[in-house]
Amino acid sequence: MPGETNALNNLFGGELLARMDRAASISARRHAEQIVVTSSVNNVSFGKAISIGTTVTIEAKVSRAFTTSMEVFIDVWVDDESGKKIKANEAIYTFVAVDSSGKPTKIDKIHPETEEEKKRYDAALRRKQLSLVLAGKMKADDATELKALFS
Ligand SMILES: CC(C)(COP(=O)(O)OP(=O)(O)OC[C@H]1O[C@@H](n2cnc3c(N)ncnc32)[C@H](O)[C@@H]1OP(=O)(O)O)[C@@H](O)C(=O)NCCC(=O)NCCS
Repeated sequence: MPGETNALNNLFGGELLARMDRAASISARRHAEQIVVTSSVNNVSFGKAISIGTTVTIEAKVSRAFTTSMEVFIDVWVDDESGKKIKANEAIYTFVAVDSSGKPTKIDKIHPETEEEKKRYDAALRRKQLSLVLAGKMKADDATELKALFS
C-alpha cells in the first residue's frame, strides 16, 4: 500500500519490523502457550528492498528457549518473477513469557533437529549474552560462551 512505502516505492523498514514482530510473537506464543512480550530486537538486516506489489512471506521460528525468554529467528522471503522464493531479510527478536500481571514465567526447552536449527540454537546463547552485556544487564566477564569466540 502507498502508505507503507517510501519515495522509491519500497516497503518502509518500520513496516517490515512490525510485521516481523507479529509473526515472531505468534511463534513465541505457540511455544510458550502463554502471553509473550517483545523484550529486544537483537539483529535486523535489510539486505534486499521489497518493492510495491511484491508477495512477501515471513517465517518465524523459536530458535532457542531459555528460562523465561526465547529467541525467535525470522526469515523474510520474496517471490521473484517466476514465483521462486528469494531470501530478502532476516531478524532476531527476543520474547519473554509473562503471566497476567506481566511477571516473567518459565517455558519449556526446545530440541533443534535440522543442521540449521542446531546452528541457530548454539549461537543463540552467545547472542543472548551479547544482548544482555549491551543492555548493561550482564558483566562482560560473565559472558563465558561469548568470550570463548575471541580466545
Ligand atoms: C520483557 C520484560 C517482561 C522483562 O522483564 P525483566 O524485569 O527484565 O525480567 P528479567 O530480568 O527476569 O528477564 C526476563 C528474561 O528476559 C531476558 N532479557 C532481559 N533483557 C534482555 C535483553 N536485552 N536481551 C536478551 N534477553 C533479555 C533475561 O535474560 C531473562 O531471560 P531468562 O529468564 O530466559 O534467562 C519487561 O522488560 C517488560 O515487560 N518489557 C516491556 C515489554 C513490552 O511491552 N514489549 C513491547 C514493546 S513496545
